[in-house]
Amino acid sequence: MTNPLAGRRIVITAGPTLEAIDPVRFISNRSSGKQGYAIAEACAVLGANVVLVSGPTALNDPAGVETIRIESARDMLAAVEGALPADVFIAVAAVADWRPAEAHDKKIKGNKGEMAALPLVENPDILKTISQRTEARPGLVIGFAAETHDVEDHARQKLGRKGCDWIIANDVSGDVMGGDENAVAIVSRDDVWRSQRTSKSEIARLIAGRIADAVEETC
Ligand code: CTP
Repeated sequence: MTNPLAGRRIVITAGPTLEAIDPVRFISNRSSGKQGYAIAEACAVLGANVVLVSGPTALNDPAGVETIRIESARDMLAAVEGALPADVFIAVAAVADWRPAEAHDKKIKGNKGEMAALPLVENPDILKTISQRTEARPGLVIGFAAETHDVEDHARQKLGRKGCDWIIANDVSGDVMGGDENAVAIVSRDDVWRSQRTSKSEIARLIAGRIADAVEETC
């Protein structure tokens, strides 16, 4: 079948989030967005109706995908919830776990000792929130995990903690961050599927193909 995801709606998060300290400063995570964008495009190629909720990146909007640009984790969660119902949710974004307790509306002056401490509060966990929905929970909820060691053990623990259906584990012990190659393991409750080390676009095609097979069975 050339369009196995036709008629399916897929919501994907990608890139970093940006949490304002004041109008010129922020805290964030290092993320190029490449893997999430590639997955969005690969799902669209298979016929899916894709909504990509992206933090700030240097990438162009992927072809054939509705792209919503946001900055903070809270805005990312609101955009994802606004895009539901969907058949599949894929959390690829490197969400900042914390944000400043207060975003100052005026620039904090550097020479006045005002920044002696930066109180932080926890951001919402978007993957966990969507996994635990009782209403309009997507039939297949997928999270990503970046691990340097014991990749599958940690992925399985994360599956339980987040309540999602798959964890796609990245082995980031090499130079994956920002690079063009990757290797992943797709860990579900009773199965593990391992990819070869290959380009992020090929990984994206493989993941989209696995999703197409799974929604055929479960959604
Ligand atoms: N995630 C999210 N919202 C957050 C934090 C993470 O949606 N506030 C999602 C990410 O998009 C990813 C997965 O959760 O799909 C990563 O989980 P996380 O607990 O952040 O794991 P790691 O970053 O791998 O950190 P650790 O190994 O310390 O648990």
